[in-house]
Amino acid sequence: MTARPIAVRAVGAHLDRVDGPLKVTGRAPYAVEHGSDEGVRDHLTAWIVGAPVARGRVLRVDATRALSTAGVVSVLDHTSARRLADTEDGELAILQDDRIHHRGQVVAVVLAESAEAAREGARLVEVHVEAREHVADLDEGDLYAPEEVNAGHETDWADGDVDAARADASVVVDQEYSTPQEHNSPLEPHAVSAFWDEDRLTLWDSTQSVHGVAQTLAPMLGLEVDRVRVRAPYVGGGFGSKGLPHSPEMAAALAAMSVPGRWVRLAVTRQQMFALTGYRTETRSRIRLSAEPDGRLLAVEHDAVSQTSRLKEFAEQTATISRMMYAAPARRTTHRVAALDVAVPSWMRAPGEMPGAFALEVAMDELAVACDVDPVELRVRNEPATDPETGNPWSDRRLVECLRTGAERFGWTGRDPRAASRTEGDWHVGTGVAAATYPALWMAGNVARVESRAGGRYAVGIGAVDLGTGARTVLQQIAADALEVDVAAIDLAIGDTSLPTATVAGGSSGTASWGTAIVQTAQQFRADHGHDPLPGLHSRTEAESYPEPEKHALHSFGAVFAEVRVDRWTGEVRVSRLHGTYSVGRVVNPTTARSQLLGGLLMGLSAALHEDGVRDPRFGHVVTQDLATYHVASHADVPPDLDARWLDGADTLATPFGGRGIGEIGIVGTAAAIANAASHATGVRVRDLPVTADAFL
Ligand code: MOS
Repeated sequence: MTARPIAVRAVGAHLDRVDGPLKVTGRAPYAVEHGSDEGVRDHLTAWIVGAPVARGRVLRVDATRALSTAGVVSVLDHTSARRLADTEDGELAILQDDRIHHRGQVVAVVLAESAEAAREGARLVEVHVEAREHVADLDEGDLYAPEEVNAGHETDWADGDVDAARADASVVVDQEYSTPQEHNSPLEPHAVSAFWDEDRLTLWDSTQSVHGVAQTLAPMLGLEVDRVRVRAPYVGGGFGSKGLPHSPEMAAALAAMSVPGRWVRLAVTRQQMFALTGYRTETRSRIRLSAEPDGRLLAVEHDAVSQTSRLKEFAEQTATISRMMYAAPARRTTHRVAALDVAVPSWMRAPGEMPGAFALEVAMDELAVACDVDPVELRVRNEPATDPETGNPWSDRRLVECLRTGAERFGWTGRDPRAASRTEGDWHVGTGVAAATYPALWMAGNVARVESRAGGRYAVGIGAVDLGTGARTVLQQIAADALEVDVAAIDLAIGDTSLPTATVAGGSSGTASWGTAIVQTAQQFRADHGHDPLPGLHSRTEAESYPEPEKHALHSFGAVFAEVRVDRWTGEVRVSRLHGTYSVGRVVNPTTARSQLLGGLLMGLSAALHEDGVRDPRFGHVVTQDLATYHVASHADVPPDLDARWLDGADTLATPFGGRGIGEIGIVGTAAAIANAASHATGVRVRDLPVTADAFL
């Protein structure tokens, strides 16, 4: 049986985070705190030593001085680390040979009795290398077409004759837009506690996917997957960087396997994160919008370029948003990448949609100006009746309502469209809008377990991960409604590979995918055992595809409105108002949902004004490798008027509880709305992130 829509009671209601008290009192154990309460006193600390050059060969790792430091136990390098059974994944196959593929790559791991000794030991390890020429600059890379782009999208995609449409168009916007390299900066850096007993490997990992880590690492280590147990009860954020395992997890595993019977803790430093745990690649987009004089699009063209690593390909799907966002008879999108001698890029909140929406939504603002049409109205005029990419009907496209409702709340009506038309004291003031979207992804392969306990309680288990989003709380609400009991009657277990298989907390797919598995299993349980079951009876069901995804285009939508102030003398940019209005199906928990959306908006603001990973192409490393130089938004950046709201509704074509994912849409379009507002304030068009003072001077 497949899941059926459920009647909601707990779903949709406020519920404080069930793990809130544990977290705020410091009693929730994070990955490297594991064991602190359980008498693990003799753990070792592992410290990563990174490659000092961008490309070349390790001639020799001289650990003499490190090993003479008090507390240093051993130093692993490519000559001494355990051999992997599979080295196909170059990012993870560390310490297997002498090749250096990027600066900062793991070339040695120091094990010591304390973190201080490990760090000092790492400083004293001498890595002798033979450097080779490298390319670490996108301008110097050779562009090629990847076989596909992230999330399995087609590399190139076209519909209609864009050249003919452009030739016929009265108005053409043809511009280039760029976003810089950006780095995931979760509060908790990547961290692992690892233990090997010569038979089983146990990891307490700060990850977005316990099963994903086990399934990836086990075959590489030559182990059956059930001999790798991964636990992640509490995770301090990830934004995608913990969605896939990266080399620190392998470093911790190899380190632990070198000292059977002892716990090993490995905490990646903030600086090391800039080389080892993934990042958003720099993107460049050329957008051509061809339109009628009234702004109706005739053609949308989006050609995206980004970088990847020679070590492992990751191709940001920057242009896919332009395939489906607006109606245009002709559309064409391409992706090209250059493989450089740099660290491997990966997922960062809304990979693809975030940089793509920046380009497309600034271009739409330029088109609005060129056609003298209100930017909200321009988007309404280009609303597609069906999904332009698939031709499928939308499950629930409410972008126009988001734009109209948001405009009213924001007070958009009556806006003077002329740029640089409003000043307040020393400030130019402007407003801008951008649209947002994110696909409602549903991942196959989730299994849940429901078991009845004495006193009318139910144990519900799934290997899902709550990376700080509130997943633990909302899954409890979904389970309660699926079983038709109170939230308080649910004992939920997550974050452990000993629980049934779950897919990644990523792609805004977690709640939808895990929630559907829980609903389906709960319904199976009721069918098998009725409403008054004996304790101990249990059902375990793999969720089949939810009925409708193939027949409908499932996306969330949103409209972001920003008010920006630019100092006329210094060029300082401040966001004074930021509103997002979203259509995300049914919101499972307004408290945690609001946090997700506000967090997404602020991360978009951070990208708009601050984040800029600067690589020195001469040496191949990111020089802004800490939070002093890689700026992220701080409390002082939070607009006095910040708000996220959503339209009431439910999308039961997406999930049996009517909700769609909300983790990523908040960052989509936000930087464009801010850039558009800055352009409106000053008359200076901004096409490159971040938007900094120099643009206006
Ligand atoms: Mo998200 S970047 O898929 O964790």
